[in-house]
Amino acid sequence: MREFDETTITDAVLERVANTPDLRARRVSRALVKHLHAFIREIEPTEAEWEWGIRFLTEAGRLCSDTRQEFILLSDTLGVSMLVDAINHRMLSGATETTVFGPFYAAPPEFELGEDIRGHLQGRPMYVAGRVTNPDGRPLAGAVVDVWHSDDQGFYDLQTLGDTPRYGGRGRFRSGEDWRFHFWTIRPSAYPIPSDGPVGKMLKAQNRHPFRPEHIHFMVVAPGHRKLVTHIFAAGDQYLDSDVVFGVKKSLVEEYRAHHGGKAPDGRGIDGDWFSLEREFRLASLD
Ligand code: BEZ
Ligand code: FE
Repeated sequence: MREFDETTITDAVLERVANTPDLRARRVSRALVKHLHAFIREIEPTEAEWEWGIRFLTEAGRLCSDTRQEFILLSDTLGVSMLVDAINHRMLSGATETTVFGPFYAAPPEFELGEDIRGHLQGRPMYVAGRVTNPDGRPLAGAVVDVWHSDDQGFYDLQTLGDTPRYGGRGRFRSGEDWRFHFWTIRPSAYPIPSDGPVGKMLKAQNRHPFRPEHIHFMVVAPGHRKLVTHIFAAGDQYLDSDVVFGVKKSLVEEYRAHHGGKAPDGRGIDGDWFSLEREFRLASLD
């Protein structure tokens, strides 16, 4: 009978997973064992600490529901989501840069171009106009654009209505044969990610704030092109340099232009403060 100790256990487990039939699963299993054992050797946890770690993950799992995804938050706040993103979007020169998907996406209701997607969300009016092109700037027809963002207090629709979500601040637009889209909504706000669970405890222990700079999410899909998942951040936001999920890229920061009264680009007359954002989205081709 073989027995194992501190010096032999890692190789014994590696041997045991070496016959994993699927090649990719074998590689993943090997790397998981190798790095997890190295982590434990470096930390040398007490048994109480290891139990604490198991409880941390158990609590993360318990908190997950259709509207709360603690594991995405964990991946995001440890920079893993942005690392996966970077690995999967190398060498896409000319294309709009990508960033984290986040936990607040839901398949949105469809709107006609020019409609208002604010729903029940409160905030100051904002006009958004976009163009979809290939990496050279040539127009791309037939794009589907999903948009989602928070209200002016930093809450997404999914967060505020408990078990009966009502959509607001999210919509799907089809640019049809045209490569342009535009819509109305409200200006969102910077916000803290949900921090009443294990991820919040982790951030506190690490002396980190939980904020994301103000942004609007876009997911753009067009035939023959790679799906683009990105945000457009508001220039001047105080959290651009310290986004809790490491998602900011310079090329994704734009002015949310301030206006007072007058006429919007679609001819609508407005009283009071309103904002506008214009932006091109360049999609890499599927080669
Ligand atoms: C978001 O932008 O919606 C988001 C991204 C990562 C973590 C939490 C929220
Ligand atoms: Fe967001």
